[in-house]
Amino acid sequence: MNIQSQISGDAERSSADAPQNVCLPAAPATGQRIVLGVSGGVAAYKAAELARSLQRAGATVRVVMTEAATHFVGTASFQALTGEPVITDQWDQRIANGMAHIELSRAADLLLIAPATADLMAKLAHGLADDLLTTLCLARDCPLMIAPAMNRQMWEHPATRRNARQLRDDGVELIGPDSGDQACGETGPGRMLEPEAIVEAVCAFFTPKRLAGRRVVITAGPTYEAIDPVRGITNRSSGKMGYAIARACARAGAAVSLISGPVSLPCPPGVQRTSVISALEMHDTVHRHLDALDSVGTPSDCFIAVAAVADWRVSSVSEQKIKKTDDTSVPTLQFIQNPDILASVARRPKAPYCVGFAAESEALEHNGREKLARKGIPLLIANIGHETFGRDDNQILILDGERSIALPRASKDALAQALVEDIARRLPAHAIPTPSPRLQA
Ligand code: C5P
Repeated sequence: MNIQSQISGDAERSSADAPQNVCLPAAPATGQRIVLGVSGGVAAYKAAELARSLQRAGATVRVVMTEAATHFVGTASFQALTGEPVITDQWDQRIANGMAHIELSRAADLLLIAPATADLMAKLAHGLADDLLTTLCLARDCPLMIAPAMNRQMWEHPATRRNARQLRDDGVELIGPDSGDQACGETGPGRMLEPEAIVEAVCAFFTPKRLAGRRVVITAGPTYEAIDPVRGITNRSSGKMGYAIARACARAGAAVSLISGPVSLPCPPGVQRTSVISALEMHDTVHRHLDALDSVGTPSDCFIAVAAVADWRVSSVSEQKIKKTDDTSVPTLQFIQNPDILASVARRPKAPYCVGFAAESEALEHNGREKLARKGIPLLIANIGHETFGRDDNQILILDGERSIALPRASKDALAQALVEDIARRLPAHAIPTPSPRLQA
């Protein structure tokens, strides 16, 4: 069933009231031209997956390798993956004017080096240009992002620390490195970020910072209400929508606190996550976060309640596992209502801009509007619960006090991006650096 048929099940409406159907904005890396520089570290093999993932994110990718990198991975892999010739040599005959370093950088929106070895970082910090990749780094108009990868002692060496500082001062964006097991058998900082995390950094890089300086608190996932130490009541929320919104807010430059029920999703980069189990715990954690922000004079700008919070909890949780008896008798459970976290946040004296979600099974707009009024919030996102729980896609209806906007079925990431752009437009003025256009009808 689609959103339109759900809406048409609502009370009669004139065409003037009909929801606006809008186009979704393009994903941040769509159409961006990335030159991927690969230097000679063992992590070079991961650059092949990175090239593929960047393409999947919508970018076009040209690969430049240092001579050392070709000892770790062949040019043919990159050529096959990107469909473009791989350049390793300043004197490559395929560049008509013989100026590969100029040609490649002029046509790029971003120069990304992954892996960036300690040696490459040292050269960049000193402005050396003794091969194609380093020359490209000097002769460029586009931004430079590097993903360091090296042994932990090399990363911790004062010379590398100095070079990293110098590169940051020069406006180079360093992403990572990660900490963990290394190819050399040691453990510590220096691992290249995983390709997925690098793609995320690239997407964040290309996302307009419409929420710069904003603080956003988000709830996501289900809650789990214990019956006894081994049993409980929960729901089918996967947390994917809430996590996609947290990721989109972070990409847009917000400081994001994610209060998450039990899910199996990794925390989106740049997001501060607090994991909770029950509705009561989620309620207390949300208010503690908001109190903490208020107390330092930086109140939260926006609260987005995406969590599928259990309406009820068992009134007395058994300390021991409830035993099955031999006869056919069954236990009787008594329930009490959980606090409504969203409504309680909306009632706070310095309430942030509150956004709710409504998982309905019918009459989406009618039920959504009723909830908008009952919770005392300015914005509500309605969706069909059983058609979205656990899935990677969704279809939503944005409802404010006056109108409704229907977003078409799309990935949760795409919807989250559109939603966050719309929310950024609606937030009360607070030195928003970049005005964002309203969703295009
Ligand atoms: O009343 P209902 O559960 O349908 O409302 C859904 C919205 O309210 C969601 O935004 C959900 O996160 C929020 N909610 C809440 N605390 C509850 C119940 C729902 O914050 N106890």
